[in-house]
Amino acid sequence: MCGIVGYLGNKKACPILVNGLKKLEYRGYDSAGICVLEKNTLAVKKDKGRVKNLETLDGINSLEGTLGIAHTRWATHGKPSKDNAHPHMDNSKTFAVVHNGIIENFKELREFLGNNNYKFYSETDSEVIPNLIHYYYSKGNNFIKSVNLACKDLKGSYALEIICKNEPDTLIVTRKDSPLVIGTSENGTYISSDIPALIAYTNNFCFLNDTELALITKNNIEFFDCNLNSINKEFSNVELSAESCDKGNFEDYMLKEIYEQPNSIRETIGNTLNGEKIVFDTLQLSKKYLSTIKQIYIVACGTAMHAGLGVKPNFEKFCNIPVCVDIASEFRYRNPLIDENTLCIYISQSGETADTIAALKLAKSKGAKTIAVTNVIESSITREADYFVYTHAGPEIAVASTKAYTSQLVLLNIMALYFAEILETISKEEINKLKKEILLLSKKVDEILKNTDKIKRLAKQIYNKRDVFFIGRGLDHTVALESALKLKEISYIHSEAYAAGELKHGPIALIEKNVPVISIVTNPDLADKTISNIQEVITRGATSIVITNQNINESNFDFVYKIPETLEYYTPIISVIPLQILAYYVTKEKGLDVDKPRNLAKSVTVE
Ligand code: F6R
Repeated sequence: MCGIVGYLGNKKACPILVNGLKKLEYRGYDSAGICVLEKNTLAVKKDKGRVKNLETLDGINSLEGTLGIAHTRWATHGKPSKDNAHPHMDNSKTFAVVHNGIIENFKELREFLGNNNYKFYSETDSEVIPNLIHYYYSKGNNFIKSVNLACKDLKGSYALEIICKNEPDTLIVTRKDSPLVIGTSENGTYISSDIPALIAYTNNFCFLNDTELALITKNNIEFFDCNLNSINKEFSNVELSAESCDKGNFEDYMLKEIYEQPNSIRETIGNTLNGEKIVFDTLQLSKKYLSTIKQIYIVACGTAMHAGLGVKPNFEKFCNIPVCVDIASEFRYRNPLIDENTLCIYISQSGETADTIAALKLAKSKGAKTIAVTNVIESSITREADYFVYTHAGPEIAVASTKAYTSQLVLLNIMALYFAEILETISKEEINKLKKEILLLSKKVDEILKNTDKIKRLAKQIYNKRDVFFIGRGLDHTVALESALKLKEISYIHSEAYAAGELKHGPIALIEKNVPVISIVTNPDLADKTISNIQEVITRGATSIVITNQNINESNFDFVYKIPETLEYYTPIISVIPLQILAYYVTKEKGLDVDKPRNLAKSVTVE
């Protein structure tokens, strides 16, 4: 939540900051602001609304300074407003700060600063930071010492950029539990919450660990630990193209990301299936260790949790180990039974989700080994987990997750086979058959993407509905859950998913004339049962929409979309595609912003 950008170099800072913010808007988009050091004053321009509003603010285009910081906000403390927008300054206007994270003890700090005659002009937690820095500065500490002392008083999470009007060529950055990356080129030093905002300027990056600080000057960067001891940090090349972070010829990021899936699935598979045995570069487990595992937990939030549900039966079947899928925000507070015989897998596209990271720390503290599955290189979760595996789906910028979900499913399915191969719980022939099918998935996804007209027409029929229901059994139910989330989060249509057999236990009371019920029917053993459930809603007037790879009598339903066949274990990777497309086109029909739905942000760093 919230994105920050900073720059110090030989170019005008303002355009670099604004471009960077545009790339970070997926993190939050209710207000935006920048501060540029102009001669010896800190010039702040900020307001509520999107980054494009910021560009129209009076005087913003005449900012000449080459040092600046910027912020795009997802409100936590205080509504979206000009006063609550960042950057925030101390009372004397000596320091300007942008902050991503939450200061949990801001009330105590406000009281302390209030007792020392500081006044506050916003409702944010962040405004205490510049004032606290000023408090220490006024006691005779230098810039970095004042920042360091202030940070020691902060409880919670932060990624901070700080500039001081008395230090014309200096930018200080630091972080704890919120992401921050530093990039360099011959034109200067660039800071951001995430690599895609900087990729147009450099491929050379360095990542700060928790509580480390960087003191950036025109010609130098010095790194310090939390006690201000000087430390060495390496910069490394990150292979990411500028095109992968752009919309290209697509109208929206979400559409681009849906269409990238044949390729992102191939990238996820990478070299894992090339050899006789499955190989993960960053995950090597022994038979001795895996044989001790009595229970696997898969823990995540939202779409990532749905990916967990979509592989649970496969892990259980192939590895013969019970798997429990849990929502991170529930898992972490319910004292789950975990010991060294438990293996915990955490899925997070962003690798920054606060609840997922807290759930991981909990399992580690109880002696379990932890594996993080994430898409973002060097994200926080990779530093916390015992092992991490990247999905390599490429940057996912639209708030609604699409390609990350299918890549998570693919990767976790390969991981299930990897465990089974080591444990020898299924035959070589069976494993080879499963591997072969995984290699065919991207082609099957491509087939669907070449055949979307029917789904576009369906979108026109349902975009003005109040409610939509999704049903399915087994893995189809997990896709129903994901598809309902996709539709509601971007189109704001009330959508619910139910296990098809559960309808008659209550929800069927909601079915009335012309309510769309979307059924996913891919499992031959369960197809007849689900079709009976569809019949029940048809009898009550529902419009029946069926996504299937089965030979069903199409004339019995209002709409049938046929998807390519695959092994039953992998159907979610195929059946979700038309439903992602449906959510997209329904939202376009409604004229809404697909990439930035209301109230949401991509990276959920609040608990
Ligand atoms: C929905 C969506 C969210 C995320 C959830 C977890 O489209 O994107 O439900 O899946 O916020 O995010 P990550 O995977 O970054 O931990």
